[in-house]
Amino acid sequence: MAAVTSQTPQTGQDEVTDLSKQYDTPMGLAHSTMQALKDRIKLHYDLASDYYLNLWGEHIHHGYWATDEAKAKDTKEVAQVNLIRLLLEISKVSEGARVLDTGCGIGGTSRFLASELGCTVTGITISTKQVEMATRLTKAEAAKQIQGDDKTVTPDADGFIALGKGKVRFLELDAEKMGEYFASDAGTLDAVWISEALSHFPNKALFFQNAFKVLKQGGKLVLADWFKGEELNQTQFDNDIKPIEDGMLLPPLCTQPDYVKFATDAGLKVFHEPKDISKDVSKTWDISWSLVQNPSLWAFAFSQGRDGIAFLQAFRAMRRGYSNGSFRYAVMSFQK
Ligand SMILES: C[S@@+](CC[C@H](N)C(=O)[O-])C[C@H]1O[C@@H](n2cnc3c(N)ncnc32)[C@H](O)[C@@H]1O
Repeated sequence: MAAVTSQTPQTGQDEVTDLSKQYDTPMGLAHSTMQALKDRIKLHYDLASDYYLNLWGEHIHHGYWATDEAKAKDTKEVAQVNLIRLLLEISKVSEGARVLDTGCGIGGTSRFLASELGCTVTGITISTKQVEMATRLTKAEAAKQIQGDDKTVTPDADGFIALGKGKVRFLELDAEKMGEYFASDAGTLDAVWISEALSHFPNKALFFQNAFKVLKQGGKLVLADWFKGEELNQTQFDNDIKPIEDGMLLPPLCTQPDYVKFATDAGLKVFHEPKDISKDVSKTWDISWSLVQNPSLWAFAFSQGRDGIAFLQAFRAMRRGYSNGSFRYAVMSFQK
């Protein structure tokens, strides 16, 4: 794939470019079953994670540009780390915490929490490829920290790789099974972290119940995600939300109050109310739309069939949804 560099977006709010015009696909096809959707999500991340790494870097989440000054000068990489810092600020997850990073991508957040905060982090993802990449990237970072000529990185008996004062491991696991899988850790974890993964899960109530199970008393659930606005009319839904759900492989999106209800129903208390940061993250999709004006990426998407093209087309809908206010982004935290 050709090298891609970050650049100032040149395109308008909902611009169809010459490149994107070559590929048009009908939107709004329903996901047939939730298991079929999960299989497509796994396949998507198995196939696309190398591209994510090239385009976005090690974090597969939005950037956060909190001020005008940040919007003018911060790169997407700085802004992505600033989103993690915001999540730490609203959750007060402390040094040395035992964390479950649910839907961990290629491990950017897990490594950050281990290196910067000395956390012990287990990252889980549904993608085999992401476990492989996350482990490889972690070993490479750990090797840099070893003094002397022998840079061999050996995981401990539980599979953790030492990083800074913390440690990290990655497991392939459908998060909907985490309650059973981590049954022996029930009531012991300091934090469950979930950044831009819950919107992929069909059964959101189950996730909150599982988080409650694995957290210790006083433990935190830290969450960043995508939402639909409240009280949208059918036209707003059809034009803005449906293409996002369709292209980004999402079951029906929730509103922010929906998540609060799921959490409190599961027995969690609100630690930090939803903070809507849509206007401070939307720049992500201006940059992304600019980045994907790369013929090799469209060719790759096209080779993946309808899902690949619908994915890239959803970028436009994301920008439109943010600008209309129908699509929202928020962070929040809860406590057991
Ligand atoms: C947008 S990425 C976010 C990655 C990461 N949290 C970050 O912030 O960089 C979504 C992640 O959710 C994971 N995911 C989606 N559905 C999942 C499931 N049912 N179980 C586990 N992981 C899942 C994907 O594999 C992917 O790693």
